[in-house]
Amino acid sequence: MQINWKSPSNIALIKYWGKHGVQLPNNPSLSLTLREANTTTSLDLKKKRSKKNIEIDFLFEGERNDKFAAKLETFLASVTQELPWLTKNRLVLRSENSFPHSAGIASSASSMSALALCLMSTNRMLTKTPEDDATFLRMASRLARLGSGSAARSVYPGFTVWGKTTSVKNSSDDHAIIAPANYHADFNELQDSILIVHAGEKSVSSRAGHALMNDHPMAAQRYKNAHARLKQLLDALKHADWQLFCKVVETEALELHALMMTSDPSFILMHPNTLAIIERIRFFRATTNIPVCFTLDAGPNVHILYPYFAKKEVRNFIQSELLQFCVKKKVIYDQMGDGPSMLL
Ligand code: PMV
Repeated sequence: MQINWKSPSNIALIKYWGKHGVQLPNNPSLSLTLREANTTTSLDLKKKRSKKNIEIDFLFEGERNDKFAAKLETFLASVTQELPWLTKNRLVLRSENSFPHSAGIASSASSMSALALCLMSTNRMLTKTPEDDATFLRMASRLARLGSGSAARSVYPGFTVWGKTTSVKNSSDDHAIIAPANYHADFNELQDSILIVHAGEKSVSSRAGHALMNDHPMAAQRYKNAHARLKQLLDALKHADWQLFCKVVETEALELHALMMTSDPSFILMHPNTLAIIERIRFFRATTNIPVCFTLDAGPNVHILYPYFAKKEVRNFIQSELLQFCVKKKVIYDQMGDGPSMLL
């Protein structure tokens, strides 16, 4: 019995930064599910060979990866109460990313959501639980969250919200949900071009990054800001208010980096080329009135967001003015995606 899922990465527009308890967010976040950047994972159950509590054979892009296997083991061991079959079988997991490992794209959202979906499908078959699709996805989102917070958002298409907020009905810290469907058609196929400024490993792990918020002097204000901006962003999406959209998205990215710069220890994760790109995007927007803005993850690479109708102009701008700041002129052209799919 082999289960296969392909699941996408996502980019947060309202950032999740700071957590408590078992992977619970300190503030709500809102993300865009991507189309091109994804992970395909397969899960096979085999007879156990040892007495180990969790026994896995893990192949990443066809090769054994013990470091990643150890992380998976810890995650799987933490969910054995709800998935007791995990301890009774050997798990053969194979995983592949659509993007190169050195592209500087965080793969935890796509890989953990793909794994969570494989686990939920297997559980559905073994326990013959006839849950409806909405329940299935909610449970997969929760399980993905336990593996990596941002992965909770990857099980849904389009815009996704994770974390309790009064601005979104049924929002929850436990799992993500699809953002309100009333966004303007301008945002259909929202474009995200990822400019690779640096292709190495992250210089601060997510876990260490979130922990920096525990004693951060600006933490309380940060969480208030995230709530307020999520509401503003929903308004911008509903009314196609591109000016507000760009302002909120850029402020979020810069605040995330400001928090890292002012934490103890301090981290500066932007590179000089990150700033060079940001300056040019702002100049291009001011001089052309084309709605285009940037966001950043916890790293130096720049995500450029723009509507489908401005695709030609913005791509020309990227090609002619921004490639010089990228490692080997590397750009990944991505856009809003339809969410995960089960492969037969
Ligand atoms: O899911 P984690 O623990 O890797 O945290 C992700 C944090 C950010 O990418 C910086 C923001 C976000 O909301 O995705």
